[in-house]
Amino acid sequence: MDRGYSENLDLNRVPTPCFVIDEGKLKYNLKILDDVQKRSGCKILLALKAFAMFSVFPLLRKTLKGICASSPHEARLGYEEFRREVHSFAAAYSETDIKELIPLSDHIVFNSFAQWNRFRSLIEKSGRKINCGIRVNPEHSEGQVSIYDPCAPGSRLGVRLKDFDENALPGISGLHFHTLCEQNSDALDRTLKVFEEKFGQFLYQMQWVNFGGGHHITRSDYDVDLLCNLIIQFRKKYDLTVYLEPGEAVALNAGILVASVLDIVDNHIHIAILDTSATAHMPDVLEMPYRPEVVNAGMPGQRAYTYRLGGLSCLAGDIIGDYSFDEPLKIGTKIVFLDMAHYTMVKTTTFNGVKLPSIALYKPENDKLEIIRSFTYEDYKTRLS
Ligand SMILES: Cc1ncc(COP(=O)(O)O)c(C=O)c1O
Repeated sequence: MDRGYSENLDLNRVPTPCFVIDEGKLKYNLKILDDVQKRSGCKILLALKAFAMFSVFPLLRKTLKGICASSPHEARLGYEEFRREVHSFAAAYSETDIKELIPLSDHIVFNSFAQWNRFRSLIEKSGRKINCGIRVNPEHSEGQVSIYDPCAPGSRLGVRLKDFDENALPGISGLHFHTLCEQNSDALDRTLKVFEEKFGQFLYQMQWVNFGGGHHITRSDYDVDLLCNLIIQFRKKYDLTVYLEPGEAVALNAGILVASVLDIVDNHIHIAILDTSATAHMPDVLEMPYRPEVVNAGMPGQRAYTYRLGGLSCLAGDIIGDYSFDEPLKIGTKIVFLDMAHYTMVKTTTFNGVKLPSIALYKPENDKLEIIRSFTYEDYKTRLS
């Protein structure tokens, strides 16, 4: 199965709930990203907001050139554990943030000229060589879902052309945009046309450009040739370094969440209550919303036994979805949710005091399962007082 689930993994060895990251699948993704870097000459960064399991950073940094951080904490994790380039961007910084970011960051990208003007002297005085950039908003939407569309009218992300202050450019060495979400390179192609039309005039004086994230490069139908051609043309025309900062593509299909059935109740439908939770362990299921794939399960009614899979929290809507199975579920049956490595592990909470899933690494080459981390009462308690 090409979804980060190795059939060889014996689920009896997995304590639940547990995220299991498949090292073989991470390597598969890295090979594709390495190929893109080699063919196009771009530099690829890992977006820590999507995947920040630092025990695998030694593997990731063999290929990826650094990380992009959304906060001083992510920048510090990247600086201490990834030990390659650190690129920081946030919608706004406080003075404390900037003071923390200066010693950690190689690039700092500002979301407005007001922020750049406010903090440039702090950066200049620091004596550190930091590449400063401005995030722009090309006002070209490719996404359908407005919560994931930084170009939607009213967006707070990026400077629009009408507000672009050419006079404030001295000291700025690059431009950044982030407009895509789980998209193919045709969306990048259309975006680049608009980006160039609007901001191309400023690119000749820049040393780098960052095309943001949202490139679904490691998905099987992704057009890698088009991506490489776009980057090559861009580098040739403007003579600058091109950065990509995907998160999801690095860990796509590289991990599962394994849960167990705790109880089965009936209310119009059979409901299996699991030792996991949509709201605490898979919040995107409710936020996006989406229906995660489950191993050996179909749509309701498609197989003999249909169940609603629910979490153990108090939230009435703590429901993952309705699924059907060939066999009846029993207390203790293991349920495997696919593609849980990105934007899930980083978003877990301890709402209701629900125990956080353990984190494990599976190496398919020698069938080794290592439990990297289990969480305790202290992890819950220490965040609250
Ligand atoms: C500025 C920025 N860079 C990179 C990313 C990573 O995007 P993805 O994980 O979709 O590749 C995001 C995602 O929100 C982002 O906002």
